[in-house]
Order: sequence, then structure tokens, then C-alpha cells
Amino acid sequence: MPVRGRAPANLAPPPGAQTVLGCFGRALIDDDFLRDPYPAYRRLREQAPVAWSDEFFGGAWLVSRHADVDLLLRDGRFSAQRTGRWVMRGSEPRTELRGFQRLFARALIFLDAPDHARVRQVLTRAFRPADLQRLAPRLSQAIDERLEAVDAVAGFDFVSALARPLPAQAISMLMGLDEEAASSGFLEGSDELANFLGAVDPTRDQALRAQGALLPMAARFESALQRRRDSSDGANRDDVLDRLVRAERAGQIRGSAELLAQCVMLLFAGHETTRHLLANGLQILLRHPTAWQALQRDQALLPAAVRELLRFDSPVQYTGRRVTTELTLHGQTLRRGDLVVALIGSANRDPDQYERPDEFDVTRRPAPSLAFGQGPHVCLGASLTLMEAQMVFSQLLERWPCLELAGPVSAHPMGSPLYRGPLKLPVRMALDGGLKEGGLYTGDVYQTS
Ligand code: HEM
Repeated sequence: MPVRGRAPANLAPPPGAQTVLGCFGRALIDDDFLRDPYPAYRRLREQAPVAWSDEFFGGAWLVSRHADVDLLLRDGRFSAQRTGRWVMRGSEPRTELRGFQRLFARALIFLDAPDHARVRQVLTRAFRPADLQRLAPRLSQAIDERLEAVDAVAGFDFVSALARPLPAQAISMLMGLDEEAASSGFLEGSDELANFLGAVDPTRDQALRAQGALLPMAARFESALQRRRDSSDGANRDDVLDRLVRAERAGQIRGSAELLAQCVMLLFAGHETTRHLLANGLQILLRHPTAWQALQRDQALLPAAVRELLRFDSPVQYTGRRVTTELTLHGQTLRRGDLVVALIGSANRDPDQYERPDEFDVTRRPAPSLAFGQGPHVCLGASLTLMEAQMVFSQLLERWPCLELAGPVSAHPMGSPLYRGPLKLPVRMALDGGLKEGGLYTGDVYQTS
């Protein structure tokens, strides 16, 4: 039985442990790694599949092979509860961050059974497949309006025009927030939260700034939820927020902090991740003319193409777990309390799982990837994400078959190894037919390493 409860935080590896420093002779994260982590992942998989790194969260194991990442996301000996040291820094108590920790620790993604199963059931019931069907035409119209508003001949930044605002709009519409979100700046400061989550070892300042963004977001939700609790506006809605309020009333959600934590997490998870899939995805497609043209000829390939984008350059590159029961993996002793980083981006390039893993191939026989996680915490927003990405790429293909990149794109300017996505993506209509080979791609094969 896994042992629950607070475990000591281990900031140093056990004696004789395999380390990233020992394997590489240097730190893992540098500019080359941020631009293209795949050569380093390959080396880890081959030489040190379980390796201690001091760079992640003050000390953690990196796990890089597909089979091991899959195992640790499913196995109850690994706990999802890991926010304490992340926010509060154990030995250096950050009492001023209690408000942040109170919400952060209650979000579904950081809960273990039995609380996880209880809250997940509420959220699963709140997000009904019929809601997605109802959302589809509104989402399609929103995409259309956003694309209509840009000048493709002159060129535009795809991130600010669509990849960034659309996912927030989609999740807001789904939750029943659209007017409130638009008028009250729900997402203001969400970059600060992204910076905190994306930092491998966040500073106190980053944590304070994230808290400064999170608490006002929670306060806005609290007023929106209160309006629904009172039903004073007389509206007869049946949206996600209403269902969450009903679950709170029925005792399935315990207390307002737990309710607020889910709302904030959904809004944030729903927009920060999908924006990277859209922008990075378009960039990859435009660097692969054969793939882009194949999609033009046959849009039935789109679902497989989106799944391949998720595998090939996963928008979320890793997640974490904490060891609850000592175990041995590839000769390494993982002690109770150790933090483990599951390298999803590496698992999705493992040759033991995928043929020609470093090739982007939209005709690949569907092979499920770990991009949405696995096991009890598998992503709740996967269907929404897939629908959104297919709609966006479909409208782009129809509108501008000759779209091209309109300038150099920094592959990974965020400075974080967690997310893969450009901050800006200049694109335009090619006047000469477009889609020439060059840059990083050769034919249909995107050479990242
Ligand atoms: C490209 C888009 C997305 C990617 C790559 C992605 C990735 C992931 C991953 C890897 C996990 C598992 C984390 C873990 O096991 O620790 C996860 C969980 C989750 N995702 Fe997503 N996600 C995306 C979009 C969304 C959207 C649009 C929503 C909102 C509706 C969402 C909501 C969630 C939630 C609530 C969880 C936690 C589930 C649980 O703990 O039971 N995600 N996501």
C-alpha cells in the first residue's frame, strides 16, 4: 500500500545515484536544450533512463523512456500531491504564499484518491459531450471572425490573432463564462502563472507574482459563482459553472476553496496548453509542405495530423509525481518523498514505442501518445482540444492554402522546458504559391536532431 501523508523532501540523490551531471558532464538545460531537447532526451533514454537532476525543483529524478513514464502516470506508488515544496519551499517557509498554496493544492491535477476520484467525477459530469456539440458552431464562428479580421496578404502574427485568444474564448464559452470573462479580464496575469508553472525551480518572486495573478482570478470566479448560487439574475443556465455550484450544494465539492481551485485550473489549463498546440502545430505543418498539401487534398487526415503534432512536439513536455513507497527502477533507488519528473516529450520520441520517432508523419498508423498524460489524471480537455485544433487547421487550409512562415521563428523563446510553443508566429499568404523547402525541414522529414 502506498504511504500517504507528508513525506520528507529529498534534495540530494542517494549515494551512487546516476545523475544528469554524470551523464552529460554539464547541466541539462541550456539554450540548445530549450530550442531542441530531443537529442538530450535520446541520450537520457539510452544512457540514463532514470537520472537525478539538481536543476528541477531543487532535486528530482528524470524519467525518459515511454514504458517508465507510462508506468509512473498509472501507478499508485506515485502521488500527484506535490505543491507544498513547489510553492512554499519546505526549509524556507513562504508564509506569504499561503493563499496560493491553498488553491493550488486543491486543483484536481494535484489530488490523490479518494479526493481525486470524487472531484474528477464532478468535473467529468459537468463537461458533457453534448456541450462540445453545442459549442462547435459557436467556436467555428469565433475562428472565422478572428481570421476575417487579419490581413493575410500583408501578414499577421498567428499567436496574437488566434492561438492565444481562441483557447481562452473556447473554455470560457464552455464553462458559461463568456460575457463575464470578456468584460472582467479573467485571464489578466495568466502569463505570471504560466511563468511560475514553467520554471524548473521557481523563485520566491515568481511565486509571488503567480499568486498576484491567481488570487484576483479566483475572486472574479467567486463573484460569478455567487451570482449563480443566488440565481439573482434569474437566468436559467445549465452550464459547467451551474453544475459545479450544484455539486457544491450536494456536498460533492467540499468548500469554496475546492470549487474555486477547479475553476481557475480549468480556465488556465484550457488556454495555456492549447495555444501552444495551435501555434507550434501550424509552424510544424508549414515546415512540412508535403504534409500541408496532403491535408489540403484530404482533410480526413486532420485528426491523425493533430495527434501526430501532439506526439511529435508535445505542448506539455513533462509532469511531476512524488514517490510514496520506496522502489527501484533501472537500478536506481527512488526513496519515499523523492520528486519524479515524467518526461512526456521524451517518451513520445521513444523508438521502442514509435517507428522513426523523429519524423513528423501525418500518415503514421495511429499510435496513442502520452501528450495528454495517462491513467487517473489523463487530460479532461482532450476532446475539446482535438476539436478546436481540427477546426482551426481546417479553416486555415480552406482560406489560405498558400500560407507560409513570414519570418524567423524562435522555436522556444519562453525560456521554459515545460511548454513547446512560439511567442510569435508571423505568417502570410505566399504570392508565388508558397511552401518551398528550406530551413529546418528536408522533404517531409522535420529534422530536430
Ligand atoms: C494541447 C492541449 C492540452 C495538453 C497537451 C494537455 C495536457 C495534459 C496532461 C499531460 C495532463 C496530465 C497531467 C498529469 O498527469 O500530471 C493533463 C491533465 C488535465 N488537463 Fe489537459 N491538456 C491540454 C488541454 C486541456 C484543456 C483544453 C483543458 C480544459 C478543459 C484541460 C484540462 C485538464 C485537466 C482538468 C487535467 C487534470 C486531470 C486530472 O488530474 O484528473 N487540458 N492535461
